Amino acid sequence: MADKDGNKVAKDYKTDVEFGRKGGFHVKGMEDVDWGMKSRLSKIFQPESGNTVMLAFDHGYFMGSTAGLERLDLAMPPLIPHVDVLMATRGALRSCISPHYNKGIALRCSAGSSMMDDDLSHEVIAVDIEDAIRMNASCMAIQTFIGAPGEKSSIENLCKTIDAGNRYGIPTLGVVAVGKDMERTPAFFKLATRMLAEFGAQIIKTYYCDDFEEITAACPVPIVVAGGKKVTEKEALTMAYLSMQGGARGLDMGRNIFQSDCPVGMAKAIGAIVHNNADVNDAYDIYREEKGE
Ligand code: 5RP
Repeated sequence: MADKDGNKVAKDYKTDVEFGRKGGFHVKGMEDVDWGMKSRLSKIFQPESGNTVMLAFDHGYFMGSTAGLERLDLAMPPLIPHVDVLMATRGALRSCISPHYNKGIALRCSAGSSMMDDDLSHEVIAVDIEDAIRMNASCMAIQTFIGAPGEKSSIENLCKTIDAGNRYGIPTLGVVAVGKDMERTPAFFKLATRMLAEFGAQIIKTYYCDDFEEITAACPVPIVVAGGKKVTEKEALTMAYLSMQGGARGLDMGRNIFQSDCPVGMAKAIGAIVHNNADVNDAYDIYREEKGE
């Protein structure tokens, strides 16, 4: 075991220097993965911009029906044309979403406890690799709880899923969950994102925080940023803009889209930031125009 006392703190992130391992493929750190995995990654990260807009509506797997998701069959179809990837459970997809949409699928593959439980950190792998293949998953999403009681088992879930995905060319999306006793500090996110990438996750989902450019610089695979709880539209767009400026390769947003007073407007506005370099004011105008203001 390395002696962690006396560990020299990392500080030389060279945030102004591009990722060194560059070939012809547009997804960071994925130059040498197999053809099938590259094909699935290209379904997620659009080759023109290298970025992605994921619509997360997997909340029901531990929250039940939350505001905006009472009727997935009605709420999701108008949003789907404006995003690249649908992040959902197999139950939601099979029952409520037609398979004809030509979108990436980030299949939620971990589950464990409901919001009735005080500690959500004990999850299991909830989808067999064969069913992920049957669902034509573009990636499999596994939650990890670094620093929480369920840390070890959640890392085991992640590593088993990565092994299974590597056998069949399906990337794994490692989701950084923040345990209830953890603080959302840059140090925490630096630790968690790097750990998940080193375990072999091909994509990392985390939250935006200060010094974000250091987190993306030190993570050798693409980071997508979670939306988090509902804030004002302007605040959500600002967070999305700062994330992209800080080196994120996309957003994986739920409540700040489907709980907005104009979900389609927010999906379009996020898309403009992610794919077209729109600034916050331009994006806000797109949202307001869709709202009819
Ligand atoms: C939970 C998730 C969810 O998909 C995601 O966090 C929900 O999106 P949002 O926070 O934007 O509502 O990964 O762990």
